[in-house]
Amino acid sequence: MQRGQTGFTQAVISLWLLISGIRSQAADNMEGNAAASERPIRQSHSLCAGEEEYVHKRKQIVLQSLSTLEINCTADSVPHIALLASGGGQRAAVGLVGSLYQMEKEGLLDTVLYLGGVSGSTWSMASLYSDPEFSTNMDAAMSRLLDPSSVDLEQALVWLGERAKEEHFSLSDIWGVLTSAGIMKQMDLRHLSDEASRNATNPYPVYNAIEKNCHLQGPIKDKWFEVSPHEAGFTDLGLFIETSLLGSKFQNGELLEKKQEMDMVKLQGILGCALADEEAMKDFIPFRLNVPGYVDGAAKEYLRLWNILDKLITLTRPTVKDTVALTYLDELKEILEDRVNQSNSELLESARTEERKILLNQWSQEMLAAVDTWSQSLEDGAFKTHVSFLMRQVIPLMVKWKWGTTGNFLYQYQNSSVPDCLYSEERLQLMDAGLLINVPYPSFLGDKRDIDLIIAPEYSAGNMFETLTLARDYAAEVKKPFPEINDTILEDRDWPKDCYVFEGNEKEPTIIYMPLFNRQNCKGAEEFKAKMEEFSTFQRPFSQEKIEFVLETAKANVKNNKETLLREINKAALRRQNKRQEWL
Ligand SMILES: *[C@@H]1O[C@H](CO)[C@@H](O)[C@H](O)[C@H]1NC(C)=O
Ligand SMILES: *[C@@H]1O[C@H](CO)[C@@H](O)[C@H](O)[C@H]1NC(C)=O
Ligand SMILES: *[C@@H]1O[C@H](CO)[C@@H](O)[C@H](O)[C@H]1NC(C)=O
Ligand SMILES: *[C@@H]1O[C@H](CO)[C@@H](O)[C@H](O)[C@H]1NC(C)=O
Repeated sequence: MQRGQTGFTQAVISLWLLISGIRSQAADNMEGNAAASERPIRQSHSLCAGEEEYVHKRKQIVLQSLSTLEINCTADSVPHIALLASGGGQRAAVGLVGSLYQMEKEGLLDTVLYLGGVSGSTWSMASLYSDPEFSTNMDAAMSRLLDPSSVDLEQALVWLGERAKEEHFSLSDIWGVLTSAGIMKQMDLRHLSDEASRNATNPYPVYNAIEKNCHLQGPIKDKWFEVSPHEAGFTDLGLFIETSLLGSKFQNGELLEKKQEMDMVKLQGILGCALADEEAMKDFIPFRLNVPGYVDGAAKEYLRLWNILDKLITLTRPTVKDTVALTYLDELKEILEDRVNQSNSELLESARTEERKILLNQWSQEMLAAVDTWSQSLEDGAFKTHVSFLMRQVIPLMVKWKWGTTGNFLYQYQNSSVPDCLYSEERLQLMDAGLLINVPYPSFLGDKRDIDLIIAPEYSAGNMFETLTLARDYAAEVKKPFPEINDTILEDRDWPKDCYVFEGNEKEPTIIYMPLFNRQNCKGAEEFKAKMEEFSTFQRPFSQEKIEFVLETAKANVKNNKETLLREINKAALRRQNKRQEWL
């Protein structure tokens, strides 16, 4: 009896020790642990346990790096430095590799705690992070970019075929293949959540998107969506699930059906497709059809079809080695070219609105019929099987213009924090965050990640400084700290300097803003404009020379501004020390 009791007491004690052990491991974040089993949705404005742990480990690496740079710092006052890469298609994807490469060479990369990306920069982030230690091995990342192994078209088509059988197949899947296979030359089938258990050799990655429905009809705080190795969810609503559950079926906060986590190819497609926005369509109109005032319903549909098919060919072509397949693609290209010829344009211009509609509808039908005939004419074999299957799957998506759909974990979740734009939707429609702000500031402002210094290499097209002024307006609206941006900088818009520092006070981060093209590498406003055009966002994949040029430009920007970067990193360390002292 006594033995039994002792045994019981021991059991209680060891159970208690076990529990308290787990408790202290998970620190104060029992909430995060419980969520995995009971409540899959975490509602909070603080870090989840996993990110907290990662950041804690990463800080030891940052501390060591600061010590090597002879910057005074202690373990409890490591500054929070985030490198936030802008969008900008392949220019951004390549530019980011150049910036990070030079950061490593200057011994600055290991001072970075977080790496955040939008659109084009997420393509190269996905590729960089395929190496769990890229931060210490940027030479390898550089070689992968310059001398890529190419992707077999067959592999890409098989992947698409698999996606097409799934519930959430959308045009983003096609875009994912195009960017992965066509631009990054890699079909990366790993899952982002696999990175949750990595050591902290690399900065903590945060990928960003926006939700389409909320983007169209919600207030700004409903729109921003972030995905890290641990969690995916709405930044400003503070509603998250584990990343491995993104895409699963939910209702009223309950997990109904767990689906397989999306791979990096699919994620890339969702994050980097500005084409998903109908407004952005204007930029993709083939110039010969650019008749003013003509983009109405029928025209939109026609242009969608034309554009997607055109992009499909342009981006697939470099992956094709088989000469027969190449001939087929060129044939299809010709069929499309034919659809936007001069006489079509003239016909359209002279037609009245009603006639245009009929004409465009007729052209849509004809184009589809021509594509169909083309796919029937292919020689029997794998290429034909895949192509015909895809055409059957893809064309309805084009007509419905379906992008980035995935299961909505907030569907019918009865909680006051869920906005109308999400409550009754079974699906989320995630798309390119660059359509809102082309640099992922929203995820890095405010108390949650408490950033001291933001390094922002700017690879965006469009108006210089726009990402900054948009972020400033966003911050004002959601009441997050942001440094003062004096509008006089806008005078530099047509020919910006290579580096600007916007100094933050108290909770505001300091921002180092570094335009890719600038006064150092362009002789005047005219050359600046020409460079922006030469390296514009929407064009066929860059030639080797273009890739090398963007790399060298991005590298030089970091090299030329090393002193500024060091000075601001030093200041950030001092600030963190002061914050820490005020705290005590
Ligand atoms: C670092 O701290 C030491 C002593 O605390 C001081 O002598 C030194 O000047 C500091 N270095 C810098 C770069 O601030
Ligand atoms: C981090 O993980 C990689 C493998 O993923 C390993 O090669 C490396 O030694 C680890 N580094 C540290 C500091 O533990
Ligand atoms: C232009 O395209 C139409 C079909 O859309 C075709 O009938 C016509 O022959 C083409 N004209 C030229 C000059 O290629
Ligand atoms: C919303 O969910 C949170 C966390 O699950 C909970 O604390 C809160 O009470 C809920 N609010 C409502 C109105 O149900």
